[in-house]
Amino acid sequence: MNSILIKNAEIITMNAKEEIFHGDIYIIDDRIAEIGHQLPYVASKVIDASGRTVIPGFIQTHIHLCQTLFRGQADDLELMDWLKQKIWPLEASHDEESIYYSALLGIGELLQSGTTTVVDMETVHHTESAFKAIAESGIRALAGKVMMDKGLEVPVLLRENTKESIQQSVDLLEKWHNHDSGRVQYAFCPRFVVSCTEELLTNVRDLSKKYDVKVHTHASENATEIMIVEREHGMRNVVYLDHLGLANERLILAHCIWLDDEEKRIIKERGVKVSHCPGSNLKLASGIAEIPSLLDSHAHVSLGADGAPCNNNLDMFNEMRLAALIQKPANGPTAMNARTVFRMATIGGAKAVGMEQEIGSIVAGKKADLAILNLNDFHVYPSFDLDPISRIVYSATRADVETTIVNGKIVMENRRMNTIDKEI
Ligand code: GUN
Ligand code: FE
Repeated sequence: MNSILIKNAEIITMNAKEEIFHGDIYIIDDRIAEIGHQLPYVASKVIDASGRTVIPGFIQTHIHLCQTLFRGQADDLELMDWLKQKIWPLEASHDEESIYYSALLGIGELLQSGTTTVVDMETVHHTESAFKAIAESGIRALAGKVMMDKGLEVPVLLRENTKESIQQSVDLLEKWHNHDSGRVQYAFCPRFVVSCTEELLTNVRDLSKKYDVKVHTHASENATEIMIVEREHGMRNVVYLDHLGLANERLILAHCIWLDDEEKRIIKERGVKVSHCPGSNLKLASGIAEIPSLLDSHAHVSLGADGAPCNNNLDMFNEMRLAALIQKPANGPTAMNARTVFRMATIGGAKAVGMEQEIGSIVAGKKADLAILNLNDFHVYPSFDLDPISRIVYSATRADVETTIVNGKIVMENRRMNTIDKEI
């Protein structure tokens, strides 16, 4: 039996009452067995977390691990030029090995910065390599092969035959979905409406229902993208997805910056999950998504860093801070407060992937997906009653993450804490 006892921590639970208290967390195998004060258990590993803060691991709902190696490319282009000139040719040049290392590098950065779950979109080929990296690394992921079977601008090397794209996706799903007791899951990834035929999209709709898996795509990120969709289909992006029957609670839509009222209504009524990517939206000059108004209408919003070249890092601290800051000039200082973005980064992400009973908060019975932070290094006045969530959102960095635990396993230790290993 594998057991971990985390002692004397400040625990930000993100449970239903969003309680914060001091105590111990006892983990047996992959789950949180008990939370309490001075728990009397003997464990195979004891972590003295005095002065440390334990948070639910971050859940990023839009990432491209295959793009990690392209960081620094195309730093000053808008979306469609960036895809055509840089990202698609680079994706086409990936081989089995480079995708594996791109994924490993990205996962290393994610675990170092406290992210324990990702929703990942790969490129058209060698997705097997990304699944291998995910499986070996211990991160929790919903990943899939990108699908793109049309689009004049898409390079020939990436343009797929519709039936083959679907068949390859199903083959990957059958091999990897629910690997390691559900830590690894499959999600269909039609890239965006611009690069997908109606035949492909309707097949994805039916297959996602049949296998009960997510559909992960981009929508309404950029004016040129929206113009192409309107020109080809006579409808706006989200309206078209709804028209095809794809707008439902299994759909994760990255970006959603330029939505009209009808699209907002569809997102809310159908339970579509929006993945907000503030760093990428700034870097590609895509725009500032109207997240406060989406949240006011009770739409579901979570966070993601997008690919490394959209953003230059995969760090959720960065995304949380940007999500809060970019709304302030237009909407006032409380439009997106620290607690709202922290909620989006944790339990909000869990809801987006349909796993709110399993991850996203520190509650007995849930999976043990946690990060242990040391927020005290430069904390000159420890007796001051600071709000730890505000501290995390506005000033923590990945250097503050000491330990990341996924599924009850320590998957990253930045520096050795006061731990005692015991054989029991
Ligand atoms: N839209 C279609 N493909 C992509 C991509 O790789 N990144 C982003 N940010 N938007 C996209
Ligand atoms: Fe993206």
